[in-house]
Amino acid sequence: MDILLERKSVRKYTNEDVKKWDLDYILRAAMSAPTARNTRCYSFIVIKDKETHKKIAAVHKAAQMVLQAPLTILVVGDQNIAFEGYLPQDCSAATQNILLAATAKRYGSVWCGVYSNEERSKAIEKLFNLPENIKAFSLVVIGKSADNKPPKNGWQPEKIKYEAWK
Ligand SMILES: Cc1cc2nc3c(=O)[nH]c(=O)nc-3n(C[C@H](O)[C@H](O)[C@H](O)COP(=O)(O)O)c2cc1C
Repeated sequence: MDILLERKSVRKYTNEDVKKWDLDYILRAAMSAPTARNTRCYSFIVIKDKETHKKIAAVHKAAQMVLQAPLTILVVGDQNIAFEGYLPQDCSAATQNILLAATAKRYGSVWCGVYSNEERSKAIEKLFNLPENIKAFSLVVIGKSADNKPPKNGWQPEKIKYEAWK
């Protein structure tokens, strides 16, 4: 439970790399996410290259933190195998598992949205040479946090209704 409450978006990182065994854990967590009809339509592109990070920053204004991050994971989904319209939900679940696994391993991370921004999606799909059926979903930027702000308090009891809206 602590991990869930501790997760926050981190956009400043130290120079420390993400360790191979931690990356394996994070990717294993991503692949443990549920998918509609168990299609497992997601794949993950692991990006460490600084030049590629610069190219991402050039096409995604809200992802400038990639310029100082050691690692980014591009979550993509195969629309040929996703069940009906569930590709975004499947990729969301995988993205959230990445954030939580990164938190568990004491890394900071942030979800940068690609889907459903058409312009960003096109630019990222071109940059990574994705085939027509493979859709860019999110960029998850990961690194040791250089930001010690506490997580936001998300608790809002007024969001909870019992049995029906009223
Ligand atoms: C679908 C989605 C897209 C997001 N895109 C971006 C983004 O492009 N850049 C960014 O800095 N944060 C992005 N975020 C992170 C949100 O800004 C962040 O989760 C929100 O402000 C709440 O803060 P917290 O994660 O620290 O709780 C995105 C989050 C979601 C769920």
